Amino acid sequence: MAFGGAQASYINPVVPFTGMIQGGLQDGHKITIIGAVLPSGGNRFAVNLQTGYNDSDIAFHFNPRFEEGGYVVCNTKQRGSWGTEERKMHMPFQRGCSFELCFQVQSSEFRVMVNGNLFTQYAHRVPFHRIDAISITGVVQLSSISFQPPGIWPANSAPIAQTFVHTIHSAPGQMFPNPVIPPAVYPNPVYQLPFFTSILGGLYPSKSILVSGTILPSAQRCGSCVKGTASRWPWTVSTCLNTTTA
Ligand code: GAL
Repeated sequence: MAFGGAQASYINPVVPFTGMIQGGLQDGHKITIIGAVLPSGGNRFAVNLQTGYNDSDIAFHFNPRFEEGGYVVCNTKQRGSWGTEERKMHMPFQRGCSFELCFQVQSSEFRVMVNGNLFTQYAHRVPFHRIDAISITGVVQLSSISFQPPGIWPANSAPIAQTFVHTIHSAPGQMFPNPVIPPAVYPNPVYQLPFFTSILGGLYPSKSILVSGTILPSAQRCGSCVKGTASRWPWTVSTCLNTTTA
């Protein structure tokens, strides 16, 4: 399926990673990072929205630190010098757990969403149109980095709504304990395809994932796939639904 104007996602990028943001950032741009924090190997990771491959001009440094109870540093680096830190003394990530981290560019600030919740806002200190690269370093493993420029949706398609429902049951004699994760429903956002996301809390017996959407009249096939990260899970489950066309 072709999409007009949207940059292709980076899939399974190896950290440390630096990649270009085609056309630079614009008001309304969204960058979504799916990954997991490694259980060990360091205390920090960082996402830098910067100018070029050189890290001397970083418009937005987002830096979770698993130190002193956990906090997140936000800052800007200009011509090699850091500015004043903005610290949020709360840690929305967990070691060993997957996450969805989304940066939304707005005219006056970045909005940072973690697992669907607004975590923080960071007022622009330098013009965001200077940003044309993203770099990610530290104690994370990444599944994808995807880009949604303002006003770009899949060509000739209806919006696709996706809802996640986590159900928690305890069953006698169950092989695996279910993690304590409250049921979560993500409110009807619109996603571009192909769409990648993490499964909060991972898969376990009784977990349900409900994906709802609209099959395009021109579709010949569509499908969904649940995959484990290769190094951690030896299996893949996939489903495919074929539709016939007249
Ligand atoms: C420094 C650290 C940098 C960056 C900066 C942000 O202490 O070495 O990597 O995180 O803080 O203010």
